[in-house]
Amino acid sequence: MSKAIVSMMNVDKIYGENHVVKNMNMNIAEGEFLTLLGPSGCGKTTTLRMISGFELPSSGTIKVQGERVEKKEPYQRDVNTVFQNYALFPNMNVYDNIAYGLKVKKVPKAELHERVMEALKMVQLEGFEKRRITQMSGGQKQRVAIARAIINRPKVLLLDEPLGALDLKLRKQMQIELKRLQKKLGITFVYVTHDQEEALTMSDRIAIINQGRIEQLATPREIYENPKTRFVAGFIGEINLLESMVLSVDGDTAVVGTEVGKATVKIDPKKKIKATDGVAVSIRPENMKFSKKPVEGFSIKGVVKEKIFVGNLIKMMVDLNDGTEIKINRFDTSDLAEDGELVYLYWDLDKGVVIKEKNLVDTDSVRDIEGGDPDEEE
Ligand SMILES: Nc1ncnc2c1ncn2[C@@H]1O[C@H](COP(=O)(O)OP(=O)(O)O)[C@@H](O)[C@H]1O
Ligand SMILES: [Mg+2]
Repeated sequence: MSKAIVSMMNVDKIYGENHVVKNMNMNIAEGEFLTLLGPSGCGKTTTLRMISGFELPSSGTIKVQGERVEKKEPYQRDVNTVFQNYALFPNMNVYDNIAYGLKVKKVPKAELHERVMEALKMVQLEGFEKRRITQMSGGQKQRVAIARAIINRPKVLLLDEPLGALDLKLRKQMQIELKRLQKKLGITFVYVTHDQEEALTMSDRIAIINQGRIEQLATPREIYENPKTRFVAGFIGEINLLESMVLSVDGDTAVVGTEVGKATVKIDPKKKIKATDGVAVSIRPENMKFSKKPVEGFSIKGVVKEKIFVGNLIKMMVDLNDGTEIKINRFDTSDLAEDGELVYLYWDLDKGVVIKEKNLVDTDSVRDIEGGDPDEEE
């Protein structure tokens, strides 16, 4: 357990009628790479701007390094921001762009020079000092923007879709570079993206935001393997969601009924699942199995619609009676079913995740880090 460097407690942001951030609770650990992930308009930028001080929360508490900052100006907070459009000065060269903040602060020339050169080295742009911004590629501009942001050695760097303007190949390369740089510098990164793959590649933890609310805050693996809500399950990777009702519970397993048959699932005692609960069972395509004969504990069947061969992966679509399309991904080409053939669906018990949505605020993850009990009164 590490200490929280940024914490948000019961933070709300309301613009007129528009409630854009809803009761947000989050503790970010020192040195952590935390990503805010969600669709366009869900409140990511607003959240980042409240941490940086460019926007005030309507209510709630924000702390940076244990100190309340809601009333502090951006420059009084030990955070820095890298914007999506870089916000560089096009008429200045690389050196002057990076040095700008230190010049304004009247840092002595010798120290300024040393720090600019150090920042250039960190982003691997040594030798580019005299280049004009207009002569730099997208990826190089991005690195200048980062050098400029880290030159003050902020404790926290906020990055709002910093790779959004780059083409796919460069973007992939920069993802790895940025992650390495973050590790090397030991700076806490709060990173905004709407790209799930980017979030999975780079983050220590991801906060999945839907309509202003954090639906889950956890490691990429935990989010992938154990989504807490339908939205999270659907937003990260491919998924099969079976809407169902709990028919009976026996210890750590339950039988659920869908419109087209029954299935057996393992249940987490923490979720307090009981008969008659409405739940969704989520199964990743790589964990969905089929058999030509009925499998004990399962009675959902469907008809193979099509198979697509994607390199060594076979994607198989199975239609259920109620119109649901089930996706199965397989690496094994043996024992495939023919198009039009009837198959029974099943899965290993621990691969079917039961989603019961009740408490949408992900309080578990808030308590993982010391320094910000969301219920704490001040
Ligand atoms: N200054 C503002 N005034 C009114 N509404 C705003 C303002 N800034 C953002 N919003 C609204 O808040 C919501 C969230 O916006 P934003 O935080 O930019 O989302 P994201 O970064 O996730 O795409 C949107 O509906 C947006 O229109
Ligand atoms: Mg945004």
